[in-house]
Amino acid sequence: MAVPYLTAVLLLAPLSRGQDFPFRDPTLPWEERLDDLVNRLTLDEMVLQMARGGAKANGPAPPIKRLGIGPYNWNTECLRGDAEAPGWATAFPQALGLAASFSPPLIYRVANATATEVRAKHNHFVSVGNYKDHTGLSCFSPVLNIMRHPLWGRNQETYGEDPFLTAELGVAFVKGLQGDHPRYVKASAGCKHFDVHGGPENIPTSRLSFDAKVSERDWRMTFLPQFEACVLAGTFSFMCSYNRINGVPACANKRLLTDILRGEWGFQGYVVSDEGAVELIMVGHQFTHSFLETAIVSVNAGCDLELSYGMKQNVFTHIGEAVAKGNISLETVKARVRPLFRTRMRLGEFDPPAMNPYNALGPEDVQTDAHRQLALQAAIQSFVLLKNQNGTLPLRATDVRKKTLAVVGPFANNSVLLFGDYAPIPEPQYIFTPRRGLETIAGNVTFAAGCTFPRCDWYRPAEVKAAVQAADIAIVCLGTGIDVETEAVDRKGLDLPGHQLDLLQDVVAWAAGRPVILLLFNAGPLDVSWAKAHDGVGAILACFFPAQATGLAIAKVLVGDEGANPAGRLPATWPAGMHQVPPMENYTMAGRTYRYYGDDPPLYPFGYGLSYTLFRYSDLVLGAEVVPVCGNLSLSVVVENVGPRDSEEVVQLYLRWGEASVPVPRWQLVGFHRVLVPQGQATKVPFLLSFRQRAVWAGEWRLEPGSFTLFAGGQQPFQETRVPSNVLRADFSVSGSARKRSQC
Ligand SMILES: *[C@@H]1O[C@H](CO)[C@@H](O)[C@H](O)[C@H]1NC(C)=O
Ligand SMILES: *[C@@H]1O[C@H](CO)[C@@H](O)[C@H](O)[C@H]1NC(C)=O
Ligand SMILES: *[C@@H]1O[C@H](CO)[C@@H](O)[C@H](O)[C@H]1NC(C)=O
Ligand SMILES: *[C@@H]1O[C@H](CO)[C@@H](O)[C@H](O)[C@H]1NC(C)=O
Ligand SMILES: *[C@@H]1O[C@H](CO)[C@@H](O)[C@H](O)[C@H]1NC(C)=O
Ligand SMILES: *[C@@H]1O[C@H](CO)[C@@H](O)[C@H](O)[C@H]1NC(C)=O
Ligand SMILES: *[C@@H]1O[C@H](CO)[C@@H](O)[C@H](O)[C@H]1NC(C)=O
Repeated sequence: MAVPYLTAVLLLAPLSRGQDFPFRDPTLPWEERLDDLVNRLTLDEMVLQMARGGAKANGPAPPIKRLGIGPYNWNTECLRGDAEAPGWATAFPQALGLAASFSPPLIYRVANATATEVRAKHNHFVSVGNYKDHTGLSCFSPVLNIMRHPLWGRNQETYGEDPFLTAELGVAFVKGLQGDHPRYVKASAGCKHFDVHGGPENIPTSRLSFDAKVSERDWRMTFLPQFEACVLAGTFSFMCSYNRINGVPACANKRLLTDILRGEWGFQGYVVSDEGAVELIMVGHQFTHSFLETAIVSVNAGCDLELSYGMKQNVFTHIGEAVAKGNISLETVKARVRPLFRTRMRLGEFDPPAMNPYNALGPEDVQTDAHRQLALQAAIQSFVLLKNQNGTLPLRATDVRKKTLAVVGPFANNSVLLFGDYAPIPEPQYIFTPRRGLETIAGNVTFAAGCTFPRCDWYRPAEVKAAVQAADIAIVCLGTGIDVETEAVDRKGLDLPGHQLDLLQDVVAWAAGRPVILLLFNAGPLDVSWAKAHDGVGAILACFFPAQATGLAIAKVLVGDEGANPAGRLPATWPAGMHQVPPMENYTMAGRTYRYYGDDPPLYPFGYGLSYTLFRYSDLVLGAEVVPVCGNLSLSVVVENVGPRDSEEVVQLYLRWGEASVPVPRWQLVGFHRVLVPQGQATKVPFLLSFRQRAVWAGEWRLEPGSFTLFAGGQQPFQETRVPSNVLRADFSVSGSARKRSQC
């Protein structure tokens, strides 16, 4: 099956030309081949390579026919599957749901499957000469921005509010996407949006001109660490963001793109602008006065590739003029073009195609049985059980087969809204809505949307009443979806949209004591305090946007089928109300996220999630009670499953500084492991606290002596616990005198 694609690649006439150039010689070192290639390019050729990042009218990087180099499109979206490319693809859960799994191995597998599909489809596109947007191999993923405000429209694309969790998951994604072949990269990653992105999103003005005023400490401790981890993971690309940082647009920010990214972290890849972010330096931020000046500041700051909204002439086409005037050096242009070709080279473009096993992938590798199974497993692992009153869940499978389930609410059978944004489109037969999924386990299903869209401006009670009164159990499917929260659309508040709460309250009344289970489809937290407190709602399951396998995953989790016990944890705090949330425009971290929250308890804390079983913690043992200032600390904790069934558990480790000389988080997640613990058994879970995790920002990263506390358990410290031994604590101290982190 793979042969036709390989043959098509081999037969492409332009690629066989220029076979003799050293840059095509696979026996030479990569950098030597790059020297050869870049030195053959004229200034005009280099300028076009930098100006054509794809997107809309601009098209791909043009071919260089005299060297036999083909076109290449840099604009590809792979957040959780091959999104936006022509044709079908497997749709994995939205990023925030993946984050709720607290499972780097799961994210690795999702990214690996995504890369397989991206590559398989790319091979096909090349074979038919299609170089349009979303046909290439260079992904604008993962998103490593911090979920710093509950109403931000793009929360769903992130891995939540914690830099450590985000870094661990981002690294897994980058490695999964790029693959483990010793020579070739399966698809190249691009970490975004760099940096301090997450302010007001609503157009026409905010997202295109917002200035994020960030303190050096917040920047270092919250908005940079996950991006540094991305460099260490080997990403080929970064994307600079729309916003300004302390007055300087990210895509014109030399401190960010050169001093920190390349200087401090040693990044060797390319920086692509967010779509339109280069022209916005002038037309959004009014930071420059001409496109020539804009090209000069952006290129000199460290931006390599312009992705434009689709202007007739991209800003970077002025680079030639800037070089002629002496404002950009030829050396800088070469340095900017080099990582573009390094990426293409490592993707295999300039090697004999038969050497690269990824060239054998084709359409039969898309939406495979294995990928569908993975989409289902990922959805199951993403669910967070928020409430389970008196063991409402799991339902007994044998009972359900004899019963009628009412599946109601705007998400009950909507095959689009379950996906979230940046979603691939699967074949219709692979899309399982809650209704379709529950039909596979229930004796009978009644259904009523009640409102067609989640905005729920109009609500039709009669149809919901009929469905609920005819049923034994009511499953209520509420939430947000992309008509309420998405890119360029921030929410106005935490409430369930429109008449959704009316719908829920009516269902509880009509159910008259029969079980009511609330399924939530959202990213930004919802104020579900009524449902949390009211006895008529037996269980609440946060599902995020699980995509194609939604209904199958729900069917399995509601009955706890084949080990499908919910074990996800909230990757962000659900506040008890907007009074707990500082304004979005104010960039200080004070009062924001679990790390800096006030004392007023949230509705549900970061790291929260229930289980169908019960875990008890014991034996938190530290490798030492006194640790040298540059020393690591190994430790372990024992988790025992004392409940009725096998289940996974997310074991969490938090660090608290005793007497840091500078402001630090209240406490900080420093380790987590999602482990399967069979019923009646105990597992010893090891952790390593690296000295780096104790570092504080004091104008530089510094290690300080003093006393510290570790908390290990199934949740954050100082929150209501499920069982008394749910969180254990142990103290240790650090000896010696303070040191720079770089001296350790
Ligand atoms: C990566 O994906 C390919 C196909 O999609 C699969 O054959 C391989 O087993 C996967 N690797 C891992 C580690 O999951
Ligand atoms: C370009 O260089 C000239 C000569 O050094 C200088 O006067 C001018 O300000 C520079 N323009 C920009 C936009 O940097
Ligand atoms: C449920 O959704 C599917 C897919 O959109 C649609 O074909 C079907 O007609 C819907 N069922 C009902 C009862 O609305
Ligand atoms: C399912 O429930 C509906 C509504 O009560 C009823 O009309 C229908 O006959 C039931 N179907 C089966 C197979 O029981
Ligand atoms: C839950 O169980 C407790 C103890 O058995 C009982 O007192 C309470 O009424 C139950 N609550 C509901 C809502 O069923
Ligand atoms: C932002 O919030 C902090 C902490 O609440 C406050 O001290 C500061 O004045 C605020 N900044 C602005 C510009 O409102
Ligand atoms: C401490 O942990 C780091 C990982 O963060 C590792 O690179 C380093 O080698 C460890 N140091 C020692 C002394 O074990």
